[in-house]
Amino acid sequence: MSTVLLRRANQHLLGIETLSALDIRQILARARILRDAPEQVHGVMAGVPVITLFYESSTRTRVSFEMAAQKLGASTISISASSSSVTKGESLWDTGRTLASMDPGVIIIRHSSPGAPQLLAEAMESVGNGAAVVNAGDGAHEHPTQALLDALTLLDRLDSLEGRTIGIIGDIAHSRVARSNLFLLRKLGARVLLGGPRSLVPKTLEPLGARIVRDVDEIIEVADAVMMLRVQFERMQGPPAFPSLSDYTRTYGLTAARARRMPPQAFVMHPGPMNRGIEIDPEVADGPTSVVAHQVRNGVAARMAVLERAMDVDGWSSSKDL
Ligand code: CP
Repeated sequence: MSTVLLRRANQHLLGIETLSALDIRQILARARILRDAPEQVHGVMAGVPVITLFYESSTRTRVSFEMAAQKLGASTISISASSSSVTKGESLWDTGRTLASMDPGVIIIRHSSPGAPQLLAEAMESVGNGAAVVNAGDGAHEHPTQALLDALTLLDRLDSLEGRTIGIIGDIAHSRVARSNLFLLRKLGARVLLGGPRSLVPKTLEPLGARIVRDVDEIIEVADAVMMLRVQFERMQGPPAFPSLSDYTRTYGLTAARARRMPPQAFVMHPGPMNRGIEIDPEVADGPTSVVAHQVRNGVAARMAVLERAMDVDGWSSSKDL
């Protein structure tokens, strides 16, 4: 048993890319404790204001962050771009300086622009505020807490990710989930296979340690788990990325027939929201090989651990499971 007690200043979580494998293991170990031993959950954030600042819509991430903060005793304040002074033209920089002046403990931000959480952190630091910034998804850049809850879910079924094969299939070009998962899975030793239309699977991800496989059946037949990704129609501009929806589903979708080709213990993940009948068949999404609901459940625990870490709560990383 090893017990690690780290003390540091409040810390931002801007992406998985800058975390070490040890950082990731510590967050996952703490999330497991918070999930499985409710007696370990204390109001360690009592009186701490936690702001959720969402410039893009969300169901899972926003609710689970607010639930996580409340379980830790924090007070939560939700701001949507549509009901804030952003509609009057206020910049993210000025929004950050304004919120920082009210001295929150943590600001959780979702934004369509890659790098927005970093800019917010710099704005807050510019007024001498030590609040932590947590990235809840920035454009197609990163969605670190999604990757953490996905890893928690994978490790509930697989003892280790070392040497395991994880497939990520779909609209990878627009996916911050794919990028954060790729960073995390590689850091924990997994092999990552990417599949989808050529127009939606950028070769630029190969230098990050992924392998692109053009025939998704080759991924499905070998992967320990497959993550199906939503086609992000709202981020697409210009000519269609594929000939038709039916063509997409036939070639890249996880149909019931295709799912039957998975190895016996393999399972299906999806970060949500799902385009049922496009990238995943409803029968598969709700079937016995799907862990989608489990992913959502794990989101609360993973985000509790992230908030404890952000606030430098004593002993957040203590664990015998590192
Ligand atoms: N997976 C995810 O980020 O879902 P939401 O957009 O509902 O938060």
